[in-house]
Amino acid sequence: MVAVWCFRLSVIYLVVGMTMGMYMGMTQDFLLAPVHAHVNLLGFVVLALAGLIFAVLPDLSRTRLATAFFWLYNLGSPPALIALAFVLQGHDAFAGPVLGVTETMVWAGGALFALNLLLNLRTVENAAGRFIAGAALSRGR
Ligand code: HEM
Repeated sequence: MVAVWCFRLSVIYLVVGMTMGMYMGMTQDFLLAPVHAHVNLLGFVVLALAGLIFAVLPDLSRTRLATAFFWLYNLGSPPALIALAFVLQGHDAFAGPVLGVTETMVWAGGALFALNLLLNLRTVENAAGRFIAGAALSRGR
């Protein structure tokens, strides 16, 4: 289920990120370009990759570290991205501390993702087999 939600959230970030990019292009206002970049990279790219890793290596998705990653990362990211937008607009006084706390949550989530993989990944041999089997199965549907 962690993988499914990583995929679901990733495409939401993709649409939000692309929409921001379109808006910046149309208005020629690039102040929020770092937010756009992080919505796409932190949101879409990282979550899509995490989803793929959890889908191909399901043992990694059943650990408490995976659950901790998921919640820290996904509860931290939206407020961090919004706080970053406020900081870029000069509202450091109230947005700075929010950014500090929430980006630390995102960092900690990413660090737990790394720890999960480093502690629990034994082999990728079966993973490759499962990936091919999954692809073959879905072609058959
Ligand atoms: C419809 C899709 C997209 C549009 C219209 C779009 C548009 C833009 C625009 C207008 C900029 C600012 C360029 C400038 O400052 O001169 C930008 C920057 C950037 N975009 Fe996108 N973008 C899109 C998708 C993506 C995706 C999918 C990613 C990453 C996966 C991405 C990553 C970045 C990065 C890293 C920057 C540089 C940010 C910075 O300089 O602070 N963009 N994009």
